[in-house]
Amino acid sequence: MKDKIYIFDTTLRDGEQAPGAAMGIQDKLQVAHQLEALKIDIIEAGFPVSSQAQFEATEMISRELNYPTIAGLARASKSDIDKAGEALKAANRKRIHTFIATSPIHMEYKLGKTPDEVLKMAVEAVSHAKTAADEVEFSPEDGCRSDMDFLVEIVQAVIEAGATTVNIPDTVGYVLPEEYGKIIATLRERVPNIDNAVLSTHCHNDLGMAAANSLAGVKNGARQVECTINGIGERAGNAAMEEIVLAVKTRSDFFEGIETDIKTTEIAKASKLVSRLTGFAVAPNKAIVGSNAFAHESGIHVHGILKNRETYEIMTPETIGLEGNRMVLGRHSGKAGFKKRCEEMGYKLSEDELKTAFDKFCQLADKKKEVFDEDIAAIISDDIRKEEQ
Ligand code: KIV
Ligand code: ZN
Repeated sequence: MKDKIYIFDTTLRDGEQAPGAAMGIQDKLQVAHQLEALKIDIIEAGFPVSSQAQFEATEMISRELNYPTIAGLARASKSDIDKAGEALKAANRKRIHTFIATSPIHMEYKLGKTPDEVLKMAVEAVSHAKTAADEVEFSPEDGCRSDMDFLVEIVQAVIEAGATTVNIPDTVGYVLPEEYGKIIATLRERVPNIDNAVLSTHCHNDLGMAAANSLAGVKNGARQVECTINGIGERAGNAAMEEIVLAVKTRSDFFEGIETDIKTTEIAKASKLVSRLTGFAVAPNKAIVGSNAFAHESGIHVHGILKNRETYEIMTPETIGLEGNRMVLGRHSGKAGFKKRCEEMGYKLSEDELKTAFDKFCQLADKKKEVFDEDIAAIISDDIRKEEQ
């Protein structure tokens, strides 16, 4: 039997909380349909109490989607939970995700509450949410800067109250992979009823650790990962869905039987859609979905790739739905890559012709960032034979 990781996508909630990433209702619906095409298990559609637009988007997504569970976020308050329950009403499977901060700094300065008061509010919230949804998820906000004994106590209490998922947010992206893994392992060891809930990761990327922390959580027993497309989210963002899914798939040797249900061939499409609708460009060197993620220029690399793609590709671009890799011609290119492109363009060159053309190419490549097919056509003079393929 496979050991499944549930993918909880929060592009439409935490992702959209990134300054400047707000999407209209129709745009959110378009993203939600693409998330369904990806076979995301749980979609966090919004934070219904926070605005009318959030409420309507959650309501519409609940109505229109079939396969995923739809989640709505709610603070640990009755009115938030009721609003979320109302927005989720039409969903085939509904989840209320309720949260309250548990770190000393958040409890004192943000909530002005004692740990006992916070614990009571968490339990009441979970008990109430159970009446309005099929599933209840609880998050101790800023969990990774919380006291471990208190975390153990509150996790045990919310599971007793009926939480079916317990999510451990690294709200401010503070911890390192070993530490995050240890928190998950400790909860598994010390919370007696932990097997009655799914443990989940929710990692922010302030120190660039979001994907690594999430995977450390998985390695230590978490079976849900919360993430966003392209890693968008507050400040430096959330764990990127594509990084988690491809890491588990590409390093199946390391993850030993752990799998996701994600249809990876839909990833490139999802990335482009979210980038277009949020206006957030994807950096060329972004793992998995950046435009350079499957591009090769240097002579040594291209030479290797032409002999065997696995020399410099640990996964194929086809896996994420791209048509193939991109061989870039520029100042780092070698003769093998240049010759291959000439052949693809229909030029059959003798050794002397190739040498002449490659010399001209090197001169041009020193002046330009990238040499395109039109440049090659201009380089290859009329006396060099062109045979239609
Ligand atoms: O980062 C965070 O703590 C959150 C919670 C609301 C889960 O997004
Ligand atoms: Zn978050």
